[in-house]
Amino acid sequence: MTKTSSFSAPRGVPDYLPPESAEFVAVRDGLVATARLAGYGHVELPVFEETALFARGVGESTDVVSKEMWTFADRNGESFTLRPEGTAGVMRAVIEHNLDRGSLPVKLCYAGPFFRYERPQKGRYRQLQQVGVEAIGIDDPALDAEVIAIADAGFRGLGLDGFRLELTSLGDETCRPQYRELLQEFLLKLPLDEDTRRRAQINPLRVLDDKRPEVKEMTADAPLMIDHLSESAKAHFDQVLGHLDALGVPYVVNPRMVRGLDYYTKTTFEFVHDGLGAQSGIGGGGRYDGLMAELGGQPLSGIGFGIGVDRTVLALEAEGKTAVDGPRIQVYGVPLGDVAKQRLVVLAGELRKAGIRTDLAYGGRGMKGAMKAADKSGARLALVLGDREVAEGQIGLKDLSTGEQRQIPLDEAVAQVADALAGQQD
Ligand code: HAM
Repeated sequence: MTKTSSFSAPRGVPDYLPPESAEFVAVRDGLVATARLAGYGHVELPVFEETALFARGVGESTDVVSKEMWTFADRNGESFTLRPEGTAGVMRAVIEHNLDRGSLPVKLCYAGPFFRYERPQKGRYRQLQQVGVEAIGIDDPALDAEVIAIADAGFRGLGLDGFRLELTSLGDETCRPQYRELLQEFLLKLPLDEDTRRRAQINPLRVLDDKRPEVKEMTADAPLMIDHLSESAKAHFDQVLGHLDALGVPYVVNPRMVRGLDYYTKTTFEFVHDGLGAQSGIGGGGRYDGLMAELGGQPLSGIGFGIGVDRTVLALEAEGKTAVDGPRIQVYGVPLGDVAKQRLVVLAGELRKAGIRTDLAYGGRGMKGAMKAADKSGARLALVLGDREVAEGQIGLKDLSTGEQRQIPLDEAVAQVADALAGQQD
């Protein structure tokens, strides 16, 4: 192909354009609203941080750090990385600004883009959007349940129901090292290829996540963390399940769950949607009780989740649902003349002030073109105004679904439009 002078977005990086972007915004804002109901305060953090923060926080041996980071040197040669996830940056900010010295838990919520150099496919992007929450500083199973319930309520609030919550416990500092050894011993006895063997040495848990049938078969009888939990980790997990039962949040325990980030301890979970194909994880999270100390802060615990907004949009689509509340435009103004236009511009402002989504035909289009634009806008009503009607104090109110039009007093237009819209909704 010959090179053209036009540009395209980087591979695997979506543009969000109307009308579909309305779905994206509705999903993102709906998820954030659910977190706010539980007292999570908004944070807006840098999209790039020192590379070492992610290497240390997320873990050198993870795919995210070893293969997927967008890393660059600044003009001074310092290494920075576009954030691949949100938790490490939130912890950095909490420590830096001493938020952990105030009342606990610190409850924070964020929404925005994250960057992973993955092979692009449906539901897997190089710039992805997440809504996340983090609750830091209190190690209470009820808080685990709250975080999980927020994600569950967030999805359901959007109308989604074809998903399941899988969870497990990854143990704590007393039982995890012993289990790790046990698993390693088991794995290193298997006839693994060299790469997998190396993985078993560096990060044995990850081998349990190997999708190849032969490896799956070999590891079918591998020891599982959930059978080797310390008493306190087991008690914690049982209490989380008890709270979820009481809350009526359905779940399945999946003891073979492996998350792609190294900081997890104890409760760990994923929301899975079957309508998405290979990229079925619509959200995930868990406890990370060692992360703050690892990043140079106090030894405080934490728990949170990240929900993939892009995948949640796809999941809604797969269920044939929409989170968008009403059309982009409800009323479309059609001015026929200069005096009429000036009056309609003012009326549009009044309608918007009343919370009614209003647009109008600009650029001196004739009646036909303007009515076509009105139809295209998705509006339910059109307001048709000629210069003569302005003088008469009248305006045409047209129902765009029935084609019916009637004259109404111009100075009652806002109230009558509001009534007509309310009537249509019944
Ligand atoms: P994560 O599981 O790596 O967790 O990502 C959370 C969600 O982001 C996934 O469930 C998925 O929906 C979405 N996601 C991840 N990668 C992509 C991609 N390439 N394209 C589209 N969507 C994607 C975390 O990031 C943790 N920081 C969550 C957390 C917060 N854990 C504790 N607190």
